[in-house]
Amino acid sequence: MNFNNILAEEENGILTISINRPKKLNALNRETIAELHEAFADARDDHDIKLVILTGRGEKAFVAGADIAEFADFTPEEGRKLSSEGHEILFDYIANFPKPVIAAINGFALGGGLELAMAAHFRIASDSAKMGLPETSLGVVPGYGGTQRLPQLVGKGRAMEMIMTAGMIDANQALQYNLVNHVTEPENLEAFTLEIAEKILKNSTVAISGAIRAINANYEAGVNGFKVEIDEFGHAFSTEDFKEGTSAFLNKRKADFPGE
Ligand code: COA
Repeated sequence: MNFNNILAEEENGILTISINRPKKLNALNRETIAELHEAFADARDDHDIKLVILTGRGEKAFVAGADIAEFADFTPEEGRKLSSEGHEILFDYIANFPKPVIAAINGFALGGGLELAMAAHFRIASDSAKMGLPETSLGVVPGYGGTQRLPQLVGKGRAMEMIMTAGMIDANQALQYNLVNHVTEPENLEAFTLEIAEKILKNSTVAISGAIRAINANYEAGVNGFKVEIDEFGHAFSTEDFKEGTSAFLNKRKADFPGE
C-alpha cells in the first residue's frame, strides 16, 4: 500500500507504521489521519499481522501535534467535527484495536502526538523524547482524547498540571508518571520495542484480544469490566488457542498457537 504521509512495513507478523512528514515534525493533518486509519483497518483484516508498532520518522519527532496550519481558521462546528471524526477513525479505533499496538516515542510527542501515543496500548520512549499537551497555549482544549487518557495514565493532578501549564516533560519524568513503560537510548528504541513485541507474539493472539477488550471495559462509563472479563474468560474455552495452550503445558512443550 502506498501512502503520502506514512510508511507501513511488515516483517514477521509485526507491522511498523511510521508517520513520515519529518519536515513538519510529523504533524497530523487530515490526510495523515485518514492514511493511518486505512493502515490500521488493513492490519485489522490481515491475518498475518499480529501486532502494530507506531512510531515517527526522523530524528526529532514522534508527532508534534495536530497540524495547526490546517485548523487555524476553523469554525466551532468544524472544530467539533475534526475532533469527533478523529476520535472515531483513529484514536478510539487504535485504543480498541484487537491486536496489540505499541507506541515507540522517538522524539516530540505533543498535542495530538501524545494523544496518539496514549491511544496505543502502551508506550516506550527514547530518552530524547519530550511529551506534553500544549493545546491551552494555543487557546484550545486537547481534542483527541487527551483530557481523558492523560488522567487515566498519570492521575488527575498531574494531568491538570500538564494541561494547564502546556509544558513538556522529558522521558524520565514520563516514566516516573507511568505515561511510558520503558525508556531506552534512541539507538535502542527499535530493537527494544521489537524485543517486547516478540515476547507478546509467543502468546495467544485470541486471548490477547479478549484481554484488550476486558481491560478497556474498565475505562468505559456504564460498563462492568468484571462482567466483560467473565465473558471473555468463558469465550476463551471455545478457542483453538486455548486447546493448544493447555495441551502444550500438560505435555511439557512450547505452545504453537493457531490464532483461532
Ligand atoms: N502543526 C503544523 N506544523 C508544525 C507543527 C504542528 N503541530 N509542529 C511543527 N510544525 C512545523 C513548523 O511549523 C515548521 O515548519 P516550517 O519549517 O515550514 O516553518 C516545522 O514543523 C519545524 O518546526 P519548528 O517549530 O521550526 O521546530 P523547532 O525545533 O524550532 O520546535 C517544537 C519544535 C515541537 C517545539 C515546535 O515545532 C512546536 O512547538 N510545535 C507545535 C507543538 C504544538 O503546539 N502541538 C499541539 C498542536 S494542537
